Amino acid sequence: MLLSIPDVLTQDQVAHARKLLDAAEWVDGKVTAGHQSALAKNNQQIPENHPAAKELGEMIVKALGKNPLFLSAALPLKVFPPLFNRYQGGESFGTHVDNAIRQVPNSTHRIRTDISSTLFFTGPEEYDGGELVIEDTYGVKSVKLPAGHMILYPSTSLHHVRPVTRGARVCSFFWTQSMVSDDGQRSLLFDLDAGIQRIGRDHPEHASYVALTGVYHNLVRRWAVL
Ligand code: NI
Repeated sequence: MLLSIPDVLTQDQVAHARKLLDAAEWVDGKVTAGHQSALAKNNQQIPENHPAAKELGEMIVKALGKNPLFLSAALPLKVFPPLFNRYQGGESFGTHVDNAIRQVPNSTHRIRTDISSTLFFTGPEEYDGGELVIEDTYGVKSVKLPAGHMILYPSTSLHHVRPVTRGARVCSFFWTQSMVSDDGQRSLLFDLDAGIQRIGRDHPEHASYVALTGVYHNLVRRWAVL
């Protein structure tokens, strides 16, 4: 499932993040890349233990925890501490697939990357190029979102970032381990949840409301691994 989530952050939060990110020192993005992706990766990142990365990462994770669309679509078990990248002056990231397992820095925890996310801090008007191109089951999608918006896509997808030929593209990226690892099962639950919410809004007295809510929870019980 490919899902765009609007306004994950407020414009004030975006402005605050931009200030911290602009003042931070950036390093070569290859520091967090695996062997194959290091060959394709040409961008900059903020070091994982940088105070700005920690502060903004916590702000993002907190916002996600209150975002109904993210919670319904991702059914998150663990969220990797968000990372931050910047592309400018022709930088790009060639076709790759994200590593399946990631070690959470300074901890013994590992997460399985089920869902990849990119949260935009710069608006499409600020740079040329820089589209995130995702090869999904249903074809190739090119994504470039307003600042504060986020795209979710299955970590199983091949993807790349096109060269940024004007301005700079600043984003956060991170992974989520879902309680439901299978993208198809997660998509069904997401669609079912959306339908149930519509019935709850329009016909809360209808017997199907409680019946379908039961089906939803029983499917989660069947498919979720904690
Ligand atoms: Ni990637």
